[in-house]
Amino acid sequence: MLAKSAAAPWAPAIQDSYQARIEAAKAALGDRLVILGHHYQREEVYRHAHFSGDSLKLSRQAAATRADYIVFCGVHFMAEVADILSRPEQIVILPDLSAGCSMADMASLAKVERAWRELGEVLGNADEVLTPVTYINSAAELKAFCGRHGGLVCTSSNARRTLEWAFERRRKVLFFPDQHLGRNTGHGMGIPLDQMVVWDFDRPLGGLTPAQIEAARIILWKGFCSVHQMFRPEHIDRFLAQYPDARVISHPECSLEVCQKSHHVGSTEFIIRTIAESAPGTRWLVGTELNLVNRLHEQFKGEGKTVTFMSPTICMCSTMFRIDPRHFCDSLESLVEGRVQNRISVPGPVAEQARVALDRMLAL
Ligand code: 13P
Ligand code: SF4
Repeated sequence: MLAKSAAAPWAPAIQDSYQARIEAAKAALGDRLVILGHHYQREEVYRHAHFSGDSLKLSRQAAATRADYIVFCGVHFMAEVADILSRPEQIVILPDLSAGCSMADMASLAKVERAWRELGEVLGNADEVLTPVTYINSAAELKAFCGRHGGLVCTSSNARRTLEWAFERRRKVLFFPDQHLGRNTGHGMGIPLDQMVVWDFDRPLGGLTPAQIEAARIILWKGFCSVHQMFRPEHIDRFLAQYPDARVISHPECSLEVCQKSHHVGSTEFIIRTIAESAPGTRWLVGTELNLVNRLHEQFKGEGKTVTFMSPTICMCSTMFRIDPRHFCDSLESLVEGRVQNRISVPGPVAEQARVALDRMLAL
């Protein structure tokens, strides 16, 4: 059975009026506006996006658009990337400034700098031994850290290629903030699990011994996504016991155990494409965010495909959900009135160094 999103807290008539007002503001702004929407965005907002995509696709879109205003229906780090990659005169807006990412918040510059220093004390000069790789789900100042230290950014769709790039240059990688994406990618490259250690950022030396650090190829930050940690291997076992012909597809932010039991693992864009290309009648179990899974269910039921959410409990990206029709409508209407509300602007020096790390990724 398909789980339902949390009910919208406003009456249908108000909901409809927001939809009409959004359309009117969008029409008034014309080609001065581009709306970018991540796949986890709720339907009432997502349907208005000029371009939708995963993090990589949206970054490329932000770099390519010529619009004056980029309204980002996603989370804070995505809007920061849009600001860094767009031209200085373009304005990036996040309709609700509290739309963050709990995983991104698990790594701060102070803690990453401390890790770098402590790792250097064990390994010698960290800049000669380690490449820092940050998942795009991180603050701009961590991307800048990677830019300064010869590292780069990765997304869920190019993590393997970025790790290969990193290992072509230095012996080891410090990967933050998502341990699961790092582990899943390293495992896929054939790196043994005991050569991927977890750095507990609240403990001296990450809770590791110098010998463990010396032996490690990838040092994984102890971060995770609160949504994707809800999916468990036993959910897959139960589903396949009931539907042995079903196909399982998961996002690489899920645990290694879940990814190993899945037939396919990839970014949100990959998940959409794989289900779209599957044969009519295919039954899917999907380990990613609820709004996307519900949309896929609606989109493909006409082809006889069944798309089921992996967790028996409702888990959705609550921060992404903060971009609601009211905040979205306010952002657009204020632009029509000539006011810029909730601008995301990354300070110059941070943006410059973060861009170095983003450009290294985009060049791959
Ligand atoms: P994608 O880049 O695969 O869309 O993932 C972004 C994200 O935040 C997943 O939790
Ligand atoms: Fe962050 Fe997880 Fe939400 Fe993705 S789903 S934006 S990683 S909290």
